[in-house]
Amino acid sequence: MTNSGKPEYKGAIRVGLAGATGWAGSALARAIAQSNDIELVSAVSRTHAGQTLGEALAEPRLTCQVYATAEEALAQACDVFFEFTKPDVAKSNVLAALRHGTHAVIGTSGLTDTDYADIAAAAEEHQRGVLAVGNFALTVVLLQKFAEIAARLIPHWEIIDYAHDDKRDAPSGTVRELAHRLSNVRPSELTVPLEQTQGVPETRGARMAGSQVHSIRLPGYTISAEIIFGMPDQKLSIRHDSGSSAQPYVDGALLAIRKVNSFVGLRRGLDSVIDFVSSP
Ligand SMILES: NC(=O)c1ccc[n+]([C@@H]2O[C@H](COP(=O)([O-])OP(=O)(O)OC[C@H]3O[C@@H](n4cnc5c(N)ncnc54)[C@H](OP(=O)(O)O)[C@@H]3O)[C@@H](O)[C@H]2O)c1
Repeated sequence: MTNSGKPEYKGAIRVGLAGATGWAGSALARAIAQSNDIELVSAVSRTHAGQTLGEALAEPRLTCQVYATAEEALAQACDVFFEFTKPDVAKSNVLAALRHGTHAVIGTSGLTDTDYADIAAAAEEHQRGVLAVGNFALTVVLLQKFAEIAARLIPHWEIIDYAHDDKRDAPSGTVRELAHRLSNVRPSELTVPLEQTQGVPETRGARMAGSQVHSIRLPGYTISAEIIFGMPDQKLSIRHDSGSSAQPYVDGALLAIRKVNSFVGLRRGLDSVIDFVSSP
């Protein structure tokens, strides 16, 4: 960022993409191949190291080289390092990117609060922006935003987390993030305290960060999150349903790349760079 606070990108934004051959990363790489203002200058994947990304993804417009590690990829100068691999390497990749003076976007899930504290300190030290986004889908960002507004006005809510039967983690990362955000507003109120529930108290779900959460795992479901607010004689449901493609994540990821140079330090959530008032 310049002293005036204006973005410093000159020409196309040069991106190094770790995880470029994965489910999410390859969809982002293909979208970048079609964009006019972003170019991929390096990619990271152990399996495809030594190839061009175009060879790995059968997309001839992606001419950058694939490297086995982020450190090798970062030898190619870039403006933004994009992390879409696995939590065990994500933190060290992002710290390496900051040492090389690039901004970073983190799409990888599973980093801890300690990881984020270390990344925030490094971002301040190197005067670069890091944007960490647990879910890039715009409709998830809006669900979280609308739920925060509703929670300020309506004290009673419960969250339902739907997913396919073979999803092992419960609740989903999106629902964890939603409960965490609402904990900054207030805890949801229970008219009958859990310990006074008669019958089987577990049927009331789990208490997470001040929200009551119910996880459903059944064949036929993809991923959905629903929050229900209740008041006397009125109810409000806000629900997000994921499709099966990575496209919703791609649009948010491109936005993150374009915005991450507009601040210094760590920001979490795509809403931290969206102008909700004047966006068309
Ligand atoms: N924020 C969001 O909206 C969002 C959306 C989708 C996914 N995600 C998250 O993004 C991450 C990736 O998900 P995915 O479904 O794309 O996973 P995936 O299909 O398994 O792809 C992982 C990618 O990372 C590379 N990789 C893995 N370990 C590596 C290592 N140690 N060093 C270098 N490269 C490594 C893989 O290539 P090699 O195996 O060849 O190294 C591959 O390119 C996950 O944490 C997922 O939860 C977040």
